[in-house]
Amino acid sequence: MGISREALRYNFQFLILTLAVRLWIPAERRRVINALGLKPGDSVLDHCSGLGGNLAPLCAAISPGGRVNAMDNSPAMVRAASRLATRRRLPVTVEKADAMALPYPDDAFDAVMHTGAINQFGDQRQAAMDEILRVTKPGGVICIQDEGMSTARAATRFGRFLIKQNPMFLDPIPIELVPDGVNARVERVMADLFFNIVFRKP
Ligand SMILES: C[S@@+](CC[C@H](N)C(=O)[O-])C[C@H]1O[C@@H](n2cnc3c(N)ncnc32)[C@H](O)[C@@H]1O
Repeated sequence: MGISREALRYNFQFLILTLAVRLWIPAERRRVINALGLKPGDSVLDHCSGLGGNLAPLCAAISPGGRVNAMDNSPAMVRAASRLATRRRLPVTVEKADAMALPYPDDAFDAVMHTGAINQFGDQRQAAMDEILRVTKPGGVICIQDEGMSTARAATRFGRFLIKQNPMFLDPIPIELVPDGVNARVERVMADLFFNIVFRKP
C-alpha cells in the first residue's frame, strides 16, 4: 500500500513548519539581535517575552557579565520562559508585568527588545513606548518588531494566506512611536513578514 498524496503533502508541510520553528526563526532572531551592537556586561529587557524565543541570543550577546530581564503579563508565558531559562542555564530573571506599567526604575537598561505585541496594543501603543523609553538608559538601544508585511510579500500566495490568518500582517509600520528628531533604522525582517525599528534613546 503506497503513501497517499494527501499524507505526503501533510508531512511536507509539517517538515517545513518544523524547520522554520527550529532553524530559520532562531537564526533570524540571532541575526537581528547581533545587529543591535550589544556588548558583554550590558543589561537588556526582553519586553513581552512570551515563550522566551529571544532569550538565548540576547544572553549570548551580553555574556559574560551582563543580565537579561524578561517580562510578560501572562502567567503561563512567564512560567514557560522561566523553564526555558532554567533548562538552558541562561542568566535571566522573568517576571509577570504589564507593558503599560513596567516594574523597573528609570534608565535601567542598555537595551530593550520587543517582539510581537505592539500591534495588539492599539491606542495603548504610545503608553507602552513611553514605558520602554523610561526604562532605557540615554543612548540605549530600542528594537521594536512585529507583523508588517512588505507590499511585494502581501501580493504573493503565501502573503495572502498569512493575512487571512492574521490581518495584522497588513498593519503599517508604527514609525510615529519613534521620538521626534531621532534617527531610526527601519527594515523588514523574517522574509519581509515583520518590520524592525531600531533607534537609540536620546
Ligand atoms: C506574539 S507573543 C511574542 C512573544 C515573544 N516576544 C517572541 O518573540 O516570541 C506576544 C506576547 O505579548 C504578551 N503581552 C500582550 N499584552 C501584554 C501586556 N499588556 N503586557 C505584557 N505582556 C503582554 C503576550 O502574553 C504574549 O506572550
